[in-house]
Amino acid sequence: MTTLNIGFLVGSVSSTSINRRLANALVKLAPEANLNLTEIPIGHLPYYSADHDAAIPAEATEFKQAVENADGVIIVTPEYNRSVPGVLKNALDTASRPWGQNSFDGIPSAVLGASIGQIGTALAQAHLRGILAFLNSPDLQQPEVYLQLTDGLITDDGEITNESTKEFLLGWLRTAHDHFALHAKTKN
Ligand SMILES: Cc1cc2nc3c(=O)[nH]c(=O)nc-3n(C[C@H](O)[C@H](O)[C@H](O)COP(=O)(O)O)c2cc1C
Repeated sequence: MTTLNIGFLVGSVSSTSINRRLANALVKLAPEANLNLTEIPIGHLPYYSADHDAAIPAEATEFKQAVENADGVIIVTPEYNRSVPGVLKNALDTASRPWGQNSFDGIPSAVLGASIGQIGTALAQAHLRGILAFLNSPDLQQPEVYLQLTDGLITDDGEITNESTKEFLLGWLRTAHDHFALHAKTKN
């Protein structure tokens, strides 16, 4: 099976982010699903402005190229006030412009997230899927991952302490692999 090069975005810049812990766990599991995960950082991106369309900032150009070069993008996000955090929305807006140069066009994606509450980022992911649809990024529909990250479930360096959670996430990565491979042909 072909190993795919997948970029990932973390929708939190918190130094204690539980979504960062989830991302670290995915990086560790990914080789078993024939995926090579590399972070595409978003925390340093300038706030998107239409002014940038005429002179794209270097950070934005680098970010857009990383998305375009990936075989797919995984987005690991918290839910903030029942939607996606601003830092993630800014990254998606940055990727989408200038008009006609949408970096997500045809790039397959897969989303998941962790929350401290039982809702497990469900509303943030629903909003995110709407954005990805507009960006013409085919996103993995099932299985959905709404993870309530309780104390100790994933260590800071990404060790998953619960076997069934580990199996579930590995299964998700394997399905994501099939999704990325299937949609590779639609990439520009
Ligand atoms: C501004 C803000 C808004 C939040 N809104 C939600 C929410 O709508 N739903 C939810 O489940 N948790 C919410 N939370 C709690 C987050 O689930 C929790 O802070 C989580 O640790 C954030 O993910 P992170 O650690 O990866 O940044 C909110 C937290 C913050 C700081």
